[in-house]
Amino acid sequence: MEDFIKSAKKVLLGNKKKGYTLPTNNKLYPAQWNWDSGFIALGYSHFKLKYALDEIKTLIRGQWKDGMIPHILFHDLNTNYYPNHSVWSCGNKIHSSGITQPPILAIILKLILDKKRINNKDKAEFKKIVKGILKYHKWFIKFRDPNNSGLVSILHPWESGYDNSPLWDEPMSKVKIPKNLKYKRGDNKVVNPEYRPLDIDYDRYVTIKNHLRKNNYNPKKLYKASLFNVVDVGFNSIFLRANKDLLKLLNTFNLKSVELESYISKSENKIVKLYNHKKNIFFNIDLKNKKKINIPSITHYFILFADLKDKVLNNKIIKNLKKHSSKEKYLLSSVKSNHQKFEEKRYWRGPVWINCNWIIYQGLKNKNIKFAKQIKRKTINLVKQKGFNEYFSCKTGKGFGATNFSWTAALFLDLILENKND
Ligand code: DGY
Repeated sequence: MEDFIKSAKKVLLGNKKKGYTLPTNNKLYPAQWNWDSGFIALGYSHFKLKYALDEIKTLIRGQWKDGMIPHILFHDLNTNYYPNHSVWSCGNKIHSSGITQPPILAIILKLILDKKRINNKDKAEFKKIVKGILKYHKWFIKFRDPNNSGLVSILHPWESGYDNSPLWDEPMSKVKIPKNLKYKRGDNKVVNPEYRPLDIDYDRYVTIKNHLRKNNYNPKKLYKASLFNVVDVGFNSIFLRANKDLLKLLNTFNLKSVELESYISKSENKIVKLYNHKKNIFFNIDLKNKKKINIPSITHYFILFADLKDKVLNNKIIKNLKKHSSKEKYLLSSVKSNHQKFEEKRYWRGPVWINCNWIIYQGLKNKNIKFAKQIKRKTINLVKQKGFNEYFSCKTGKGFGATNFSWTAALFLDLILENKND
């Protein structure tokens, strides 16, 4: 096992730049990504706390004045990535994208602080970070849930992190692509196009992005005006868990937020309304087109991570999760493999992703330890057998996308070292 731990650390250090870490070294993602950075920080925390802190501090340095932490920070401006800094044309202190990503920072920070003793000098730094995260969460509540319903919206599929999931097919089909749309994607030159989103998906990603820019990324306007507005179960589950963890972090640093406390109870009551008791599955809401979206996505099981108090519901969800991948050798496929939209190789339409396994493992640990351990063992073995790939086939374990993928290495480390007093 020592060799694998060494290799995982090597992947992270190999992708490290000054103050942040690339998701991979193969030119596919030549910048800092929001949720990648969170997972990467957790990985570093097992052997170099300073790097973990640097990763998070850099993210917060790129925070917008209104509180948003962007999904991409462009530190190096000379890359072939599309859409690059000049296309987004925004940012505060650091060039950035104009959208966000799943807010896992509070969760990661709490996990780190639960394990590490911090000295007084670091304490002040952590307090500053916690304040930044609180500002970020308040931005979500204010601008992504202006009606104070308890559930936040995403305004672009890229915000989910699971870009081309079948979850977005219906709402995306309504986005009209202008005839004069011009751009050149770079991703499918670096990675086999069979493993990447289709051109039609990119046309729509770019159309929505252009529309956001035309509206100056104005969060007040865009909740209503955006071409895409979806309430996603996975995203809201992460936000709920992050809010619960943030509340504990606030306590630790003698800070307070009454608004956050009441939002948590509202969310807890509201998110369970997205459960269809007849079909035994969660659904998303396409607010733009006023429709429900029914897709058996693994990300719906992030609800376990939100630690709902409803034990009966949790048990139903776990029973369902067992069925989700019962036919597959490698767990957990991003879309149930008997669903018509399942694709074995294409990005978020079927492959296994280590961050999903990790999130669900964390959610199961205090509910069904036997099943949790099974997922953990299978995840570790998959990476040991096939390498630090971006994603994997649930049928053969074959790796797809980028190699030397940072969050695969980081979360592999966390799974192995989580109980060690390192
Ligand atoms: C990409 O470039 O594929 C990213 O997922 C967008 O955030």
